[in-house]
Amino acid sequence: MADGRPFYITTPIYYVNARPHLGHAYTTIVADVASRFHAMKGIPTFFLTGTDEHGDKIVRAAQKENLSPRAYVDAISRQFRDLWPELNIGYDRFIRTTDPAHMAVVEKILQRIYDAGDIYYGEYEGLYCFGCERFYTERELVDGKCPDHQTEPETIRESNYFFKMSRYQDWLISHIQENPDFIRPERYKNEVLAFLREPLEDLCISRPKSRLEWGITLPFDDKYVTYVWFDALLNYVSALDYPDGERYRTFWPQAQHIVAKDILKPHGIYWPIMLKAAGIPVYRHLNVHGYWNVDESKMSKSLGNVADPLDLKNVYGLDAFRYFLVREMAFGLDANFSEAALVGRINADLANDLGNLFSRVTAMAHKYFKGVVPECDPEIDREVNLGLVTDAEKAVRVFEEEMERFGFHKAYNAVWELIGRMNKYIDMSAPWELAKKKSSRRQLEAVIYKFLEGLRIVSGLIYPAMPETAVSMQRHLGFDVPENADGPYFDLASLASWGGMAPGTQLPKSTTLFPRIEVKEKETPEEAPPPDPDIPEIKPEISFDAFGAVDLRVATIIKAEAIPRAKKLLKLEVDLGRRRTIVAGIAQHYDPEDLVGKQVIVAANLKPAKIMGTLSNGMLLAAVDKKKTAIATVEGEMKPGTPLR
Ligand code: MSP
Repeated sequence: MADGRPFYITTPIYYVNARPHLGHAYTTIVADVASRFHAMKGIPTFFLTGTDEHGDKIVRAAQKENLSPRAYVDAISRQFRDLWPELNIGYDRFIRTTDPAHMAVVEKILQRIYDAGDIYYGEYEGLYCFGCERFYTERELVDGKCPDHQTEPETIRESNYFFKMSRYQDWLISHIQENPDFIRPERYKNEVLAFLREPLEDLCISRPKSRLEWGITLPFDDKYVTYVWFDALLNYVSALDYPDGERYRTFWPQAQHIVAKDILKPHGIYWPIMLKAAGIPVYRHLNVHGYWNVDESKMSKSLGNVADPLDLKNVYGLDAFRYFLVREMAFGLDANFSEAALVGRINADLANDLGNLFSRVTAMAHKYFKGVVPECDPEIDREVNLGLVTDAEKAVRVFEEEMERFGFHKAYNAVWELIGRMNKYIDMSAPWELAKKKSSRRQLEAVIYKFLEGLRIVSGLIYPAMPETAVSMQRHLGFDVPENADGPYFDLASLASWGGMAPGTQLPKSTTLFPRIEVKEKETPEEAPPPDPDIPEIKPEISFDAFGAVDLRVATIIKAEAIPRAKKLLKLEVDLGRRRTIVAGIAQHYDPEDLVGKQVIVAANLKPAKIMGTLSNGMLLAAVDKKKTAIATVEGEMKPGTPLR
């Protein structure tokens, strides 16, 4: 419960080998929700996120894009950094593992652990998964394959540095047992303890520079860089200006990490042991959530079902999107994302329950009291005797307890229970009947006051998940929320005490909080125009990967000439980063001299083929029908060799 300790919340620092997606957005949004909740309690908070930029995964991603690692990590890191404000995520610091100050901390801690004798040099042969950038034990593999990448790991033998994790195994077991919510929810604590029942192997913490240069050099051997997890985990302390920073002193021991189950082991085992070995107190809680699937499948590029948070925000609105994520996933378990489920919640929870409650109450306040908050006579109030005060107190209490233990979905469930009760009370007390008789005017005042007060409390409780809607509600309840208020207008304590609405306050004109989303019926086949018989059928679908295997490039035509005795063919010499000869069947539609200098699109990795005696090394793309052929080109000018995606 509330203990007034400062609150330090972190997300994983995300790898820059992929664009931000729904999964990253979830973790970062719940971190934001937790941080806003603690700010509402008046507690000093610090919210850290960032990007993880070293390691061979990143080098390979950069190579794929034809960029240097530096240029590549700068570009993708910026995408993450720029996305978060769009989702109203108010982090306090964005750390990058390529920040020199972070790198200096990593070196310092490596040296300290080395000096203490917990890092040794040895030979190692093991099964290495390049995707995960780590060695696997046979036991961890599923059918001989990496469980994450479904690929067989490669056997690698090399001399490396090792971290003596085994030395701290018993200490970690006792620490977890003595602090039962060190790792939560419980299922993940049990998973870590189960893992710790087997002897811990020492952790290989170096990579020879001959294999990987993009990393932090070991301070005690410049032929090696450090293993990416040893670098990444330390961001949580380097971001607080460890060891002497004021922030470190204030926030560190209170650290609460949020991660998904994929990175439980590094956070539940490596990290506390690293801290212990470095003489740094361990974090307070590791909060672990499950995985989002999309339309019942794992999100993956090849399935083409990677949900883009910005697209969803733009279509459905930011607060609706944030609310959905927070409410739909039981923190700790996997959840399924679908647009149908999102629309379902928007219509049921937001447009119906909350939106209707808000518009019914404010409309009645305008209709019966010209929008002036009425008095609530305590005598009459007792007589009216709605259970609303007790319900609201309960909602605030459960909300606070659940938010404290990262039960976000349960916290909001409690708020929606209150909303449901209020909607019921409106029907029960039937203010429209009270309004018919002069003699029940005082009752009407008491009832409407109560509903307005209930709305005030709801508007505060929704703030962490839906900051914009909360502010809008508060303004419509007559509170003067400043334009660029950085934080809630209500603190949690003011929500727990009944009676915050001031009688006599004039309410501004009401508004609709969440319009219903009309679900469009699918286009009926009768309405669609009949297919054109000249247009061929669309071929059977292929995977994203299959499409990606075709290497399409922009090419500039350098030379074009007819091929003797071949009426339809032209021999083209093109520049696509390198010179190529291509045979194209466009002679009846284009004069060779008109083609020189034109930019075209070429399938560059087709197996070369001899056509009428000339070797064609690639294929030019063109739109072809019975009468016409038009070559495909790019708009404006592009560098020859630029890939198409
Ligand atoms: N760089 C490491 C973390 C180092 S922290 C010291 C890493 N990066 S990651 O980009 O792969 O991010 C993993 C995290 O992203 C997960 O732990 C989770 O927070 C989030 N998610 C990525 N995909 C997700 C889902 N499909 N569902 C829920 N969260 C997911 O691991």
